[in-house]
Amino acid sequence: MHTSSRDLTIRECGATETAARDALITRAFRDAPHADGTEAAIAAALEARGKASVSLLALHAGVVVGCVLTSPVTLSDGTPGWHGLGPIAVEPALQQQGIGIALMEAALARLRAIGAAGCVLLGDPAYYARFGFITDPRLQLPGVPPGYFQCLSFGAAIPTAEVRYDAAFDAG
Ligand SMILES: CC(C)(COP(=O)(O)OP(=O)(O)OC[C@H]1O[C@@H](n2cnc3c(N)ncnc32)[C@H](O)[C@@H]1OP(=O)(O)O)[C@@H](O)C(=O)NCCC(=O)NCCS
Repeated sequence: MHTSSRDLTIRECGATETAARDALITRAFRDAPHADGTEAAIAAALEARGKASVSLLALHAGVVVGCVLTSPVTLSDGTPGWHGLGPIAVEPALQQQGIGIALMEAALARLRAIGAAGCVLLGDPAYYARFGFITDPRLQLPGVPPGYFQCLSFGAAIPTAEVRYDAAFDAG
């Protein structure tokens, strides 16, 4: 199956679609480097805790082929409005066709629309730099190798703080 941006719909994840979403996350992360198999449980826990600030699906011909979630993160200096992006996943057979980029752009647009101050994520900088993510020593995630924890401010200065993800990330 091939996709083109014409065939792709990105919209909010409905309550009845979370099982298909979580199965997709499991498939996508199965062979991913740095994955630990808890990513689908994290997505489910974020929804269950009501902490998904953005939850989008990519659909191709009505089939779920990608997803992205974000959730509020806590900054140790008290700065409000920052969110963590993840998990993000694309059906393995349909990767490298732009679905991930479309999901990223939609999630960041949604965060801006709800007035977020910025976004952090863990991932390969070679992929996320294109969206404006940078590594910045001011914003740290304890225990993570330097270079993989990245941030994108939507306007304000980057705070000097340690970041804590929602408790859903302890799931699994
Ligand atoms: C990370 C992930 C979400 C990216 O999704 P994706 O749909 O494969 O990503 P895209 O297709 O948008 O972009 C990937 C590459 O394809 C390229 N690409 C985009 N559109 C393309 C097209 N129409 N034709 C060919 N290549 C294309 C992009 O330029 C990018 O290339 P580069 O990174 O080598 O420069 C996906 O690989 C995935 O689910 N991985 C497993 C789970 C995971 O690791 N998640 C992230 C944890 S941080």
